[in-house]
Amino acid sequence: MATDKIRVLIVDDIAETRENIRKLLQFESDVDVTGTARSGKEGIQLALELDPDVVLMDINMPDIDGISATEQIRQKAPHIQVVILSVQGDPRYMRRAMLAGARDFLEKPPMGDELISAIRRAGEVARIERAKGTQQRNSATTASGNPASMSGFAPISKGKIITIYSPKGGTGCTTIAVNLAIALNNEDTRTVIVDANLQYGDVAVFVNEQGKNTILELAPRVDDLEPDVVEEILIKHEASGVRILAAPQRPELAEKVSADQFSKVLEFLQRMFSYVVVDTSSILTDVVLSTIDISDVVIVLTTQEIPAIKNARLFLDLLKTMAINKERIIFVMNRYDKRFSITPERVSENLKHEISTTIPLDEKVVITAINRGVPFMLDNRSQPVGKGIFSLAETVRARLNILESENEASVKR
Ligand SMILES: Nc1ncnc2c1ncn2[C@@H]1O[C@H](COP(=O)(O)OP(=O)(O)OP(=O)(O)O)[C@@H](O)[C@H]1O
Ligand SMILES: [Mg+2]
Repeated sequence: MATDKIRVLIVDDIAETRENIRKLLQFESDVDVTGTARSGKEGIQLALELDPDVVLMDINMPDIDGISATEQIRQKAPHIQVVILSVQGDPRYMRRAMLAGARDFLEKPPMGDELISAIRRAGEVARIERAKGTQQRNSATTASGNPASMSGFAPISKGKIITIYSPKGGTGCTTIAVNLAIALNNEDTRTVIVDANLQYGDVAVFVNEQGKNTILELAPRVDDLEPDVVEEILIKHEASGVRILAAPQRPELAEKVSADQFSKVLEFLQRMFSYVVVDTSSILTDVVLSTIDISDVVIVLTTQEIPAIKNARLFLDLLKTMAINKERIIFVMNRYDKRFSITPERVSENLKHEISTTIPLDEKVVITAINRGVPFMLDNRSQPVGKGIFSLAETVRARLNILESENEASVKR
């Protein structure tokens, strides 16, 4: 880089604010305002084009808000540091901003000194992260041999495996896997659903795309997969953009896929997608167990019925013996109906594991969606059950962020 000044991008929808900040910074010899953006969307675009060290980000803006914009910038360019400037001194905002990956949080209007020292701190971190990124990219190039073949497919960082499991059949794994994947999928966070219910997998049926390629096409060649070949075999669900890796067509074919092959496929998909959502069967096959083992987070489902709660207890115990960190588990109550006395709070207390999200019972919306082969997150997402899925998607993102920052912290230690 030609200069070692800290390069700053200002993102705010109000012209006056942008101008005031620019004025505050103009006499700092080590700071250079390289650009200004008027909305979250423009902020993301300019951040990726100009590659600044620090982004000063407003929260309330048209199109994409500052917190989502922060999340997207950090996902694509993790070396860029974001300092949030907001009139909302609310700690909940602050927490959300931090979870989205913001480095610092200043109240508006910022004091000159305060702003400049925040920029310097963030600029320093950006420099270190940038150097680290270059190192990693260099070693990745040598390791994989052919990085060019991944371009156009690869997310910047390794994708996350999110597995949905219920220790009791018929609890809603497939319903949640399909709809959660649709909620997580967008242009920037491409999402694939993988059906790990190898005998009776029905993900493809849920989206009315049965009868196409399945994992059987990939299993024999797991050791030399190529992104374009994999992309060919995945089913493209046109209505949502989500990709699907379907289960074999007949139950007796399940044994043709080994746990090792299955894990390798998942690991390859992590290089192509931001989120790999895995639907499972309740039967703990080797495939399901090894998937749980390599998952970043496991969503464990229960309902308000005693047998489901009993099995949830058994399964949570099993995860403990598998030494799966409790933070990797997201405990969810599906088909929640407040008329029943078994509340999420009671179950949380009883099983000593907090239920993070509840998804309400709505047979009309859910069953109609399944039978039409049109997931409710496509055409009915404002219903309470859709809101439940959105809130689960938020929980998943937040949890992944926490795990990521813990991971970073332990690497530094
Ligand atoms: N929130 C909900 N409200 C109402 N019905 C639901 C809800 N979630 C799931 N269901 C219903 O429960 C049934 C089972 O759902 P689903 O197939 O998603 O469960 P599963 O855990 O994948 O089952 P399996 O063990 O067969 O794989 C379906 O009939 C579905 O419509
Ligand atoms: Mg299922």
